[in-house]
Amino acid sequence: MIDQQTYAEPFQRGQPLEGGCVGEVVESNRGTFRVGDYVLGRKGWREYYVSDGAGLTKIDPTLAPPQAYLGILGMPGLTAYVGLLDIGRPEAGNTVFVSAAAGAVGSAVCQIAKLKGCRVVGSAGSSAKVRWLQEVAGVDAAFDYKKVGSLTAELKEYCPHGIDVYFENVGGTHLEAALEHMNLRGRIVLCGMISQYNDTTASSGVRNLRLAVRKRLTLTGFIVSDHADRQPQFYADIGAWIADGKITWQETIIDGIENAPKAFLGLFTGENTGKMLVRLGGEPSVR
Ligand SMILES: NC(=O)c1ccc[n+]([C@@H]2O[C@H](COP(=O)([O-])OP(=O)(O)OC[C@H]3O[C@@H](n4cnc5c(N)ncnc54)[C@H](OP(=O)(O)O)[C@@H]3O)[C@@H](O)[C@H]2O)c1
Repeated sequence: MIDQQTYAEPFQRGQPLEGGCVGEVVESNRGTFRVGDYVLGRKGWREYYVSDGAGLTKIDPTLAPPQAYLGILGMPGLTAYVGLLDIGRPEAGNTVFVSAAAGAVGSAVCQIAKLKGCRVVGSAGSSAKVRWLQEVAGVDAAFDYKKVGSLTAELKEYCPHGIDVYFENVGGTHLEAALEHMNLRGRIVLCGMISQYNDTTASSGVRNLRLAVRKRLTLTGFIVSDHADRQPQFYADIGAWIADGKITWQETIIDGIENAPKAFLGLFTGENTGKMLVRLGGEPSVR
């Protein structure tokens, strides 16, 4: 709601809320879209809309259920892919630490990093999420950051050889703890800082940023929409990993447009594992 454009448009007063959506064409006067086609767009929080086709992309529901184009095959998946591979530049044997590791972006980062031969450590906000990371996503270690006394001590235990790449989704104390354990010439991928999005006063600074100097760290922010050129390679790689069963994902599905605000707010209290989705009418495509 803050009037700053990032990877999502700010909400506008008096206008329907916007967000990524997939849906089915129910009527069409254009040859390019047929009834029954599935499309991806950014209209979001509404059950039906009329479009001239601009900004709509047809999706292939045979590769994965249509809603996967909002998660692993969509914007969050591309964010994970570009952020980790292009900005984090992990090498086999590197230690990669991921915060909000069981979320839409984080869970993809963890699995791609494993596919690249890295040691992966994830932080998440419940024991069920930690279990999923260890048992399904196959990370080397995961912990519930809400249950630990000191994030710094926890990272010392799980990253005994330090951290080469930190994939930052959370900010605040997570960033400070990661900085303590970054290795020389490590990369910090600044993807998001969800712990600070709802701050109404200036948050206190990162108290140990000085470590970035001594350790020759690179901290790089990025916005996924600047990396549309990576889409073809992303589809090729992720499509192959899905087809080979090498990557998986979770979804949290809330039903009904009346529950969309609840779903949105749930992102800030960790109600979701994997992509938070709102299902608006129609029959679900169940995985
Ligand atoms: N740069 C870009 O272009 C770009 C694109 C997409 C997303 N992002 C960013 O990437 C991050 C992940 O996005 P996503 O869509 O995949 O969301 P997500 O991880 O699926 O959901 C958000 C998760 O953040 C965690 N969280 C919420 N408040 C927290 C807090 N105060 N402290 C610690 N963790 C907290 C919760 O998990 P726990 O239960 O683990 O706390 C929650 O489930 C966000 O920061 C988002 O803004 C950036």
